Amino acid sequence: MRVDVFSAKRYDQAFLGAAAKDSGLELCFHEARLGPTTARLAQGAAAVCAFVNDDLGAAVLGELAAGDVRLIALRSAGFNHVDLQAARDAGLAVARVPAYSPHAVAEHTLALILTLNRNTHRAWNRVREGNFALDGLMGFDMHAKTAGIVGTGQIGTVLARILTGFGCMVLAHDPNPNAECEALGVRYVPMTQLLAGSDIITLQCPLTPATHHLIDDAAIAQMRRGAMLVNTSRGAVVDTRAVIRGLKSGRIGALGLDVYEEEGDLFFEDLSQTHIPDDVFARLLTFPNVLITGHQGFFTREALQAIAETTIANITGFLRDGQALHPVTLPD
Ligand code: NAI
Repeated sequence: MRVDVFSAKRYDQAFLGAAAKDSGLELCFHEARLGPTTARLAQGAAAVCAFVNDDLGAAVLGELAAGDVRLIALRSAGFNHVDLQAARDAGLAVARVPAYSPHAVAEHTLALILTLNRNTHRAWNRVREGNFALDGLMGFDMHAKTAGIVGTGQIGTVLARILTGFGCMVLAHDPNPNAECEALGVRYVPMTQLLAGSDIITLQCPLTPATHHLIDDAAIAQMRRGAMLVNTSRGAVVDTRAVIRGLKSGRIGALGLDVYEEEGDLFFEDLSQTHIPDDVFARLLTFPNVLITGHQGFFTREALQAIAETTIANITGFLRDGQALHPVTLPD
């Protein structure tokens, strides 16, 4: 059975190839992203394997279904980029990898927090140039500071554990409070209280209509002056233009992003020989207190292996039983 894998980087090929070794699946790798011009490549494949910036809108799904594809196997936990109604209408099943390594993303979030706080990214450059001056590098003790976590699912819970280990007081906002977090001493509060009471705010919630631009001008106005904001969830949870205004006014003291609302045109590609076509993103890069990584929160050996194994299990399960291990379904 043929499976067409889109947005396939070298590392995807290595991990998926190893996971599929004895599965009987024939993996056909495409470096290209899935979209209206590439969907026809998958004609005749039983399944398509897609990543976070692939286009899984109605038109592409229709073309895949017309080409006899029956399953979309996402290599991600998030599925906000899939038109689930269109998939159902086209008779396509959708599967995802609900959990691979919450540690990978939580630890990357911590990396952003620590780097922004202690300016190690700037220190690295200075020391290489023989500049050992400390002006501008001062941070703060994490101990006894308040961190606010928006979304305490798998990733948010690991992060809560890490941050309480640092001696932080942790506030959280989540429509579904989590007993493990409560046992850690995490205090669930309304969003306004989290915004007003946190020195560090991290976003670990999915992108849904309710969380789209959750951090907008109004939310930023409620934040403590100089608070740090970190987003490793999905770009559009943050209104980027509002955040730029917050950085300019000093309301946001530091910004860490692993995701960006228009990342589809930038991330996962080497654009170093050309220019950045996105002026809003380019503006973000001019702030010394902004640190951006290109959606690499998931990028650990352990996570890639787990993603590959679950993806192959989703596909083989679907082809064998007509049901993927981890289906994504429309809420009734
Ligand atoms: P999860 O499903 O375990 O947890 C999400 C939590 O967010 C749940 O507890 C849910 O109740 C909560 N939530 C939903 N709506 C909310 C709202 N309006 N306000 C506050 N909380 C809300 O998901 P998990 O595994 O912890 O992942 C979280 C998100 O992280 C994913 O949806 C994905 O977008 C992102 N992610 C980013 C990665 C990266 O590489 N940067 C990798 C993996 C996931």
